[in-house]
Amino acid sequence: MTMEPSAVEAQAAATTPAARSSTMDARPPKGPLVEVQDLVKYYPILGGFLRRHIGDVKAVDGVSFEVKEGEVFGLVGESGCGKSTLGKTLIQLQPPTSGVARLDGEPIFGKKGKALKKLRRRMQIIFQDPVGSLNPRMPISDIIGEGLLAQADSENRWGDRKVRDKRVEDYLQAVGLRRDYTRRYPHEFSGGQRQRIGIARALALDPDFVVCDEPVSALDVSIQSQILNLLLDLRREFNLTYLFIAHNLSVVQYISDRVGVMYLGKLVEVADVAALYAHPLHPYSVALLSAVPDPDPRVRKKRLVLRGDVPSPAAPPSGCRFHTRCWLFEQLGNPENCTTIDPELREIGSGQRVACHWAERVPSSVVAAAVPSVEEPTEEVAASAGAPALSRAGDAGSSAGGITAAGT
Ligand SMILES: Nc1ncnc2c1ncn2[C@@H]1O[C@H](COP(=O)(O)OP(=O)(O)O)[C@@H](O)[C@H]1O
Ligand code: SF4
Ligand SMILES: [Mg+2]
Repeated sequence: MTMEPSAVEAQAAATTPAARSSTMDARPPKGPLVEVQDLVKYYPILGGFLRRHIGDVKAVDGVSFEVKEGEVFGLVGESGCGKSTLGKTLIQLQPPTSGVARLDGEPIFGKKGKALKKLRRRMQIIFQDPVGSLNPRMPISDIIGEGLLAQADSENRWGDRKVRDKRVEDYLQAVGLRRDYTRRYPHEFSGGQRQRIGIARALALDPDFVVCDEPVSALDVSIQSQILNLLLDLRREFNLTYLFIAHNLSVVQYISDRVGVMYLGKLVEVADVAALYAHPLHPYSVALLSAVPDPDPRVRKKRLVLRGDVPSPAAPPSGCRFHTRCWLFEQLGNPENCTTIDPELREIGSGQRVACHWAERVPSSVVAAAVPSVEEPTEEVAASAGAPALSRAGDAGSSAGGITAAGT
């Protein structure tokens, strides 16, 4: 597992979602904006001289969830479990193998022509790699303006260079960059600034739903918190709904309202962020949380080490896909249904959903040892965890439009 500690970790633990939402989240989440039912995305494996179809990489294999309007739905899981595939398929960067998805009740898949163009504008993506995702030969005005031009019509008048340039400048300012950066090229900016440009490019199209695919993973820890806070501010300012993908649990905890835990192409747990981080129900979620360092450096957590590597998504294990690595399966004496029956996501408790036949048998002592020892550590505890604190929304340098580009 690659759940590296970061600056965000200490602060994520120090900032409960309840505390954060009271300061940052002006709009309570409403009904579902995005609904996903049984989404499947297989990549064909071709082999032999005739390049025959000999199998499939089952990157996403029957995933259902919804994202409420105005919420941040975090998606977490080890590398290769299908997070990016899910995000890219959802916003139509690639077709699904099967399944249904809706935006505002309207089917997303199978659209063509004008209907597809309209839908594309409403769903945008922010990529992990702020360097690779910006064309080095284009000035910022064209990088952000390109999408506007593609979506130009008589109503928005984005085809008019002046209108377009003004909008580019407005969005540069909204993400905390100077308006006159339009003539500059990507290499003239730092990693954090480039990610701000990526965010401006997505938001200039006035989307409703934004997939943020590991947007801070490639950034220095000191910059991560600024970008996370910027995303939260922009959500409020532009009425956005996010699918926020990350492999770092603390980043997801900091920014999300609800979280889906993914393992080998499937969701194994979906819960409110506070519930998941206080009492995870799936053995995989418990193991992931046990790998996060405790904010109190005096506490030595008992880490649940998962056996072996993640199996290949081209040949996932039978029954519950997690059984080859599951510590509970072992503890319970290898029950047969784990190897023969794929567990459905089912509701346990108040709204927490989990895909495990034996979730009720997860010992509370194991959970207690896996989750952080203190729910709301003091500033001193967070600081003593050896990480600079995240600046909260409203602090100088974190609010949309209020940031100077220097140093980021
Ligand atoms: N275009 C592709 N062709 C074939 N396999 C792919 C492609 N994209 C991703 N995969 C495979 O699908 C699985 C899920 O990948 P990905 O969605 O990128 O995972 P994550 O974002 O969680 O790291 C991986 O096994 C990956 O190798
Ligand atoms: S169903 Fe069995 S193998 Fe799967 S997570 Fe639960 S206990 Fe582990
Ligand atoms: Mg990915």
